[in-house]
Amino acid sequence: MNASDIRSITVIGAGTMGHGIAHVAALAGATVQLYDALAGAAASGIEKVGKNLAKGVELGKLSAADRDAALGRIRAFDELSAACAGADCVIEAVPERIDLKREIFRAVDQAAPSHALLATNTSSLPIAEIAASVRAPGRLVGMHFFNPVHVMKLVEVVRHGSADPASIAAAVGLAERFGKTPITVSDAPGFASSRLGLVIGLEAMRMVEQGVASAADIDTAMKLGYGHPMGPLELTDLVGLDVRLGIAEYLAQAIGPAFTPPQTLRDKVAAGKLGKKSGEGYYRWSPDGKRIS
Ligand SMILES: NC(=O)c1ccc[n+]([C@@H]2O[C@H](COP(=O)([O-])OP(=O)(O)OC[C@H]3O[C@@H](n4cnc5c(N)ncnc54)[C@H](O)[C@@H]3O)[C@@H](O)[C@H]2O)c1
Repeated sequence: MNASDIRSITVIGAGTMGHGIAHVAALAGATVQLYDALAGAAASGIEKVGKNLAKGVELGKLSAADRDAALGRIRAFDELSAACAGADCVIEAVPERIDLKREIFRAVDQAAPSHALLATNTSSLPIAEIAASVRAPGRLVGMHFFNPVHVMKLVEVVRHGSADPASIAAAVGLAERFGKTPITVSDAPGFASSRLGLVIGLEAMRMVEQGVASAADIDTAMKLGYGHPMGPLELTDLVGLDVRLGIAEYLAQAIGPAFTPPQTLRDKVAAGKLGKKSGEGYYRWSPDGKRIS
């Protein structure tokens, strides 16, 4: 399947990443089926896409007609098989648990046409193990988008040992159609970006624990001292503390103790402090996503 032949894209999971992937896919002209297992989540994902597209119109980045057309191409689904019927590509963005991702792809394998490109947005999990859950593992690749998807330019296309080169080429082409810059990486734990980014994030958390400096001052150090657009703790709040904890636990076991999650990260997740999406993480956030303190 060539990237230019992909007309219909199913996105599984309508959370932080899923609604962003639906946004860029619809803007690139695809029809999008957005499916979430949680009642109402796909519809609220589409609402968020609407808000982000409206901001784009305000900023003069797209016309009102393009916004309406893109929004009109996204439909909410509450049933996986209906969402996958007729898809040329299925992109999964459910929580970072390998058992869940494998279960989803077993169902997608039955429901989606056999020509469809399959992609997982996992940040760190082994693509080969996810691909082993479908009958033709060569058609499944990693497509690792960044948050917020409609803003961030990078997509890591992850190639496992038995990935079909045509699937890799299609994923690279699709990322380009979405206006992104793809890089191709091999199926090593944490790929290129999560492995490196997490080391800085976890060390910043340990520095807060040890009283080296406040979260805000550590973030300022990385922004002004190293030119990072966002500090590692603010980024952790944006990504989701639960998401970062899941990746750290996996990388600690797959690579080594440098990735052992700090206790404060575990404590905050256990207390439901998941970052921007829950209103508190390393900072406090208003319901409309502004930093309060
Ligand atoms: N948050 C980030 O910054 C970020 C960045 C890159 C990649 N990722 C990866 O993207 C994936 C999703 O992360 P997220 O931050 O969007 O998570 P999220 O928690 O915001 O959203 C996950 C969504 O999946 C839905 N879901 C749960 N079980 C499901 C099922 N069985 N079927 C369908 N939907 C189901 C949930 O209801 C939720 O809406 C993870 O693999 C994560 O590692 C996250």
